[in-house]
Amino acid sequence: MSFITPLWPPAASEYAQQVDRLFLGFSALTLLLVLPVFILIGIFALKYRRGRDVDRTHRKGGSVWLETSWAAGPFLLVLGFFGWAVALYVDAQTEPVGALEISGTAKQWMWKFSHHPGGQREINELHVPAGEPVKITLTSQDVIHSLYLPALRLKQDVLPGRYTTLSFTADRPGTYTLRCAEFCGANHSVMGGRIVVQTPRDYARWLSRSGADRSLAQRGKLLFRQYGCSGCHGPASSVKAPDLAGLYGRPVPLESGETIIADDQYIRDSILFPQRAIAAGYPPIMPTFRNVIEEEDLIALTAFIRDTRPADWREE
Ligand code: CUA
Repeated sequence: MSFITPLWPPAASEYAQQVDRLFLGFSALTLLLVLPVFILIGIFALKYRRGRDVDRTHRKGGSVWLETSWAAGPFLLVLGFFGWAVALYVDAQTEPVGALEISGTAKQWMWKFSHHPGGQREINELHVPAGEPVKITLTSQDVIHSLYLPALRLKQDVLPGRYTTLSFTADRPGTYTLRCAEFCGANHSVMGGRIVVQTPRDYARWLSRSGADRSLAQRGKLLFRQYGCSGCHGPASSVKAPDLAGLYGRPVPLESGETIIADDQYIRDSILFPQRAIAAGYPPIMPTFRNVIEEEDLIALTAFIRDTRPADWREE
């Protein structure tokens, strides 16, 4: 695998091609605006150089129309590109519905990915199907990293203690570079691998070959028992702990009077910092699981809490 990035990286998605068009268009505009200035500097420097017999009288009064147009023209052109860039940015930030979910965990100095539906896990490699929207939820186990996928023209900071997301639809099968783009310590420069975009058939084959026996949510269910969560939060428990069935995505009234939406971040923080946001009407008795549960297990637990409908929960 080569770590040398070609001068112009391949474009593996429609979005990447649009970014290229924007980049080339803006470069052309910049040249268009800058070249006349430098050419005129050259011409005037020659024409008015010392000792030449030319008219040096300062002309009074100019054309208001000319002055205004050469300020307003470039301004409007640049503003047009601003609008174009914002539209692309919003497009990249919009999470597609029904996307294939993958979780990514960064640590010094590797990338770990878990595929939600099948539970397949991989390190420094990311397999995705072509033509299908993918959403990656990222977090870091130590310092700030940044997931950089040049072929998709995408980059997202990966932060400890917080979830960030990256969505894309790659449509050109192939193997492309995957890098860390945030200086994160001694081996930052080798923290990378590859993203493999496959035809849906090849991807299905890869999934079955990388045989995980359970989905991320199912793994979370096992962890839920292993870490003893079910002792208090299980349906049969006698401890007064919030019922987690159907919790995900719902507003949770807090003891402090505030309301918080039960998303990935809330669930993660409740496990690691249980005293931070106490659910209204419950005693603050939950112990912290900081330094006990790893990021990857937190992701699996969250997947379990999220994907389990109230009815499934009570079966056991
Ligand atoms: Cu991780 Cu640089």
